[in-house]
Amino acid sequence: MVIIKTPQQIELMAQAGKILAACHREIRQMIRPGITTLQIDSFADEFIQAHGAKAEQKGYHGYPFATCASVNNEICHGFPTQTPLQEGDIVTIDMVVNLNGWQADSAWSYPVGQISAKAEELLKVTKECLYMGIEKAIEGKRLGDISHAIQSHAESNNFSVVRDFTGHGIGQSMHEEPQVLHFGHSHRGLMLSEGMVFTIEPMINIGSYELTVDHNGWTARTVDGSLSAQYEHTIAITKNGPLVLTEQD
Ligand code: MF3
Ligand code: CO
Repeated sequence: MVIIKTPQQIELMAQAGKILAACHREIRQMIRPGITTLQIDSFADEFIQAHGAKAEQKGYHGYPFATCASVNNEICHGFPTQTPLQEGDIVTIDMVVNLNGWQADSAWSYPVGQISAKAEELLKVTKECLYMGIEKAIEGKRLGDISHAIQSHAESNNFSVVRDFTGHGIGQSMHEEPQVLHFGHSHRGLMLSEGMVFTIEPMINIGSYELTVDHNGWTARTVDGSLSAQYEHTIAITKNGPLVLTEQD
């Protein structure tokens, strides 16, 4: 069952989203060769708490950190580590902010210093996939319209779409219905209506979409070792079109 949110509830989620967006803006400034993802994780945890909110991922099904930090061929759920980031790396920071019981979720991929032209292209196309999906998040359209827009753009650029992780409804729980696939067919699936709130979070690989999960039980990485990127926003379906609750500008 999809839990429909009132405009007031969406406003509460937007307040969580603002804190999350501000945290990403700070992280963007911090990222450079030599910084560790554990330092970024501590910063995010403290930043979120200083704003009266909670880093919801910490302790979620036993996940040990405030953020997921997925470097290079890590697709998602990377553990923050003491290994310094290096020039040329890409790193995806994903986190969920809970403010007064209402949540927002956003992941962003960042370049570390100067990166390869291919990595730049991956970041650009993956971000475009997110926004092309968001454009379809309109009352009367269907979930498949979002899925298809993302898959078409990724594959027309010769990248692949990760199958095993999806977007999701969000509200007072991190994961609610519906599942939002990043691949699929137009005109299929759930019809979108006002008050639905969910994430769109395409994970796009340079090589194949096949993945393996590390022995820590969490970290997913590409089987072929190719780079993977991800951009994620929490969005609400409103009378006036898609409302991005985690926008950073
Ligand atoms: N933020 C993630 C998502 O996009 C969830 C991370 S799993 C966790 O759905 F357990 F680490 F929180
Ligand atoms: Co997320």
